[in-house]
Amino acid sequence: MSLTKIDLPKLKKLYEGKVRQIYDMGEHLMLVATDRLSAFDVIFNEGIPDKGKILTRISNHWFNHVGVPHHLITTDVTDFPPECKPYADILRDRAVIVKKAKRIDFECIVRGYLIGSGWKEYQEKGSVSGISLPSGLMLADKLPEPLFTPSTKAPDGEHDINVTMDYVKNNIGTEMASMLAKLSIGVYLKVAHAMAPKGVILADTKFEFGVYNDEIILIDEVCTPDSSRFWDAKTYTPGENPQSYDKQIVRDYLETTGWNKEPPPPALPAAIIDRTRARYVEMLTLVTGKGV
Ligand SMILES: Nc1ncnc2c1ncn2[C@@H]1O[C@H](COP(=O)(O)OP(=O)(O)OP(=O)(O)O)[C@@H](O)[C@H]1O
Ligand SMILES: [Mg+2]
Repeated sequence: MSLTKIDLPKLKKLYEGKVRQIYDMGEHLMLVATDRLSAFDVIFNEGIPDKGKILTRISNHWFNHVGVPHHLITTDVTDFPPECKPYADILRDRAVIVKKAKRIDFECIVRGYLIGSGWKEYQEKGSVSGISLPSGLMLADKLPEPLFTPSTKAPDGEHDINVTMDYVKNNIGTEMASMLAKLSIGVYLKVAHAMAPKGVILADTKFEFGVYNDEIILIDEVCTPDSSRFWDAKTYTPGENPQSYDKQIVRDYLETTGWNKEPPPPALPAAIIDRTRARYVEMLTLVTGKGV
């Protein structure tokens, strides 16, 4: 069974994201991860059982291991404010109490490998995010160094647009933009190094940051299969589309359906849901050493 809708009538819901529901807890926020699945920015009717718990546990692990200031206050439901008590069974492992940050409205993407929209731009212009790259690179090739390739955070229903570092600097100032790039690449490298001995490549990932008490802090989620491409190092071959631990199974299936990527979404077959869930569980186990 998957939990795609979570109803907590006694709490004040601020915002419903594609995956998370956000509640105002006074001084803090509560983020509750549902089992909803989105692909190409469209939310599917079917959920992936336990996905919300898996994402939350993976994120919590990284927040506590990457060594940068972050938003977590508590992840233990027994320490949540008293008004959460009636919902403890729903919230356990799915919810976190976090600092109320002022979000910086850019997606802080880091790419270590040439795939997705990065590969597309490289084929057309020989660059990624406006950064020129050597010629002759293949699909899924490792980049000479990880690149900070930000995008805008598009309003609901619209797709994010890749932008250059100069665009970010003009928008939020050179100092904050440089800080975002430095923090993003640092966290990417930390997670990539942690996963390498486990036979997993972190191909790329997306971070969000916010400002809290005049400090830039890491918010939202960190290096989950929803926000990142994780590849199996054993089968990784430059030039080929890699086997992936994320929702690539869903994306690949959707490419076979002829769906135009606009709502309403097509139904997902049970076999695709099962395979996707198995991938998420495998990733959780690889990251934390424990399954669901
Ligand atoms: N500590 C925080 N302070 C303020 N906002 C936060 C914090 N952590 C996460 N958020 C915001 O909460 C939301 C999480 O919900 P979810 O991941 O479902 O959103 P989403 O569908 O990715 O939507 P969006 O396009 O708004 O990011 C995001 O909008 C994220 O920016
Ligand atoms: Mg999100």
